Amino acid sequence: MSDPNTLANIDQVVTEHLALDLKVDFSKQRLVGNVLVTLKTLVDNVNEVILDTNHLVINGVYEGENPEKALKYTLSEQDPKFGRALHISLASPASANQKIQITVCYETTKDSGALQWLEPSQTVGKKHPYLFTQCQPIHARSLVPCQDSPGIKITYSARIDTPAPLRALMSALRLNEEPEVSGDSRIYRFEQKTTMPSYLIALVVGELEGIEIGPRTTVWSEPSMVKKCAEEFVDTEDFITVGEQLLTPYEWGRYDLLVLPSSFPYGGMENPCLTFVTPTLLAGDRSLVDVVAHEIAHSWMGNLVTTKSWENFWLNEGWTVFIERKIVGRLRGEPARQFGALQGVISLRGDIDFFGHENPLTCLCPRLRGVDPDDAFSRVPYEKGFNLLYYLEQHLGGPEVFEPYMKAYVREFAGKALTTDEWKTFLYSYMEKTHGQEKVDLLDQVDWKAWLHTPGMPPVDNSFDQSLAHACTHLAGKWDKSRETPFEPSPNDLKEFSPSQKVFFLEKVLETQPMPHALLESMDKVYQLSEVQNSEIRFKWQMVCLKAEYQQIYPKVVQFITEQGRMKFTRPLYRALYKCPSGSQLAQETFIKHKNFYHPICARLVEKDLDLVKK
Ligand code: BES
Ligand code: ZN
Repeated sequence: MSDPNTLANIDQVVTEHLALDLKVDFSKQRLVGNVLVTLKTLVDNVNEVILDTNHLVINGVYEGENPEKALKYTLSEQDPKFGRALHISLASPASANQKIQITVCYETTKDSGALQWLEPSQTVGKKHPYLFTQCQPIHARSLVPCQDSPGIKITYSARIDTPAPLRALMSALRLNEEPEVSGDSRIYRFEQKTTMPSYLIALVVGELEGIEIGPRTTVWSEPSMVKKCAEEFVDTEDFITVGEQLLTPYEWGRYDLLVLPSSFPYGGMENPCLTFVTPTLLAGDRSLVDVVAHEIAHSWMGNLVTTKSWENFWLNEGWTVFIERKIVGRLRGEPARQFGALQGVISLRGDIDFFGHENPLTCLCPRLRGVDPDDAFSRVPYEKGFNLLYYLEQHLGGPEVFEPYMKAYVREFAGKALTTDEWKTFLYSYMEKTHGQEKVDLLDQVDWKAWLHTPGMPPVDNSFDQSLAHACTHLAGKWDKSRETPFEPSPNDLKEFSPSQKVFFLEKVLETQPMPHALLESMDKVYQLSEVQNSEIRFKWQMVCLKAEYQQIYPKVVQFITEQGRMKFTRPLYRALYKCPSGSQLAQETFIKHKNFYHPICARLVEKDLDLVKK
């Protein structure tokens, strides 16, 4: 089968459209309703439709929209990673190219991993409950019975019944600005007309307010912070415009942003028409908005041109990082792009060290049969993927050759899903057709096996420009040497540094031996690092301290990992605290006490990191 992480019979029948009709029940923390699934058969003699589900209760299945025409169904045993297959028997066998419509009545449960239900106390406003979903990679099946494979591209529509005064938003166009009112219910309707994979279905319900910040962009968040959000993300339209110049016209109509409560487990999530972002991006100085450039790049790479399975995830993320950095380069200059690439390599090395250089999951195209893609998540598809594309661009003759190819690639595969083999075949045929045998010879020089199917660091060490890194590396060197030859640090050392240079400086310090406590103390005193609110700087500083088992930092760490649940920060900090002999108990106790704060995906992974469950 083409996707090892789905239980659905996608080789026989594929979904075309989902029509959701759901009521949001905060008192029981569940969604109740039904989905009308429209499918098309691929082969003759199809007897059943198999859908993915995970922790859903199925209340009934019938043909079309007719409850009289009940269909027989069974649920398979629960697979701990992939859920339960819903086998629906068709009334009569279907031949190829036949349209099938099935309604499944269902409800979600407390264990549905896509959903996080927040109590009013877990929101900024403290008055209303809140619900948000996170479906990537394979959690859509716990939100709606579906063929939960990224290779299946669908359109969807939805009718969401929410309690007043809450608002619902989805990864789709809003059909009614103002809700239809019926008693205490508010009905919101949505439609996504561009085909997309199931992992991009997204829903949020809460007390939400929007401010328009661009011709196709509204920023949404809880009311008390929406102004701050609007100021942080004013550059959004510029990013989209550059994306359009680099690739093709923006396809999705709207590009809204939603700033979530602090337990949102990712930096950003590219839900179409409505990117989700973490509030830890709100630095106050727009210094962390590259995440938005990244999510915008997904509008083409991932959302339009989609990986066929999670084994080719790099086609989404590697390409997206590549485009994200092109956008940054166009808007802030080549040194900024190079600096991002340099930081990328460091983060890649960190993750490969963590997984192990021989670990097959560090291949660009890992095998994921029997593997939960959440457990395989790392910087590898992002940064090894970026490095492959960067290398290819250089090797094939630079942007003049590569940028037209990028456009052609998007045009060729828009609305489709593909594998790495198909990607490579198109690259060869494009280069041959456009530039002839010379480029084909160059492509033949590429060590494909090493790039795609060998664990560890990339086979080619791209050299990136060091101009923004130099001062950071130099200062970190001074601190390193100060173990023997003391120097007089001054607040001016960091004065000219941008926030990302401060992060890089700390990264370099982190690469050296653990710092003596006296040096950490003076570093903090002179640079005031413990007071910094910028989440990236705060994170790196705390990592530097934990590496040296500097106990004075523990309360600050506990504060940071319990006030936000972004996995990028939360997991490494928990792991580093746990690794300190004097901190392991604190790490476990803190997690147990705050477990309910975290998103289920984050909680499950931290639990493993802290040996609280068996791996
Ligand atoms: N699509 C990802 C987030 C994701 C990946 C969710 C895999 C679930 C499974 C998103 O586009 C992303 O990559 N976010 C990054 C930020 C980015 C700037 C690298 C993140 O969350 O850190
Ligand atoms: Zn991404």
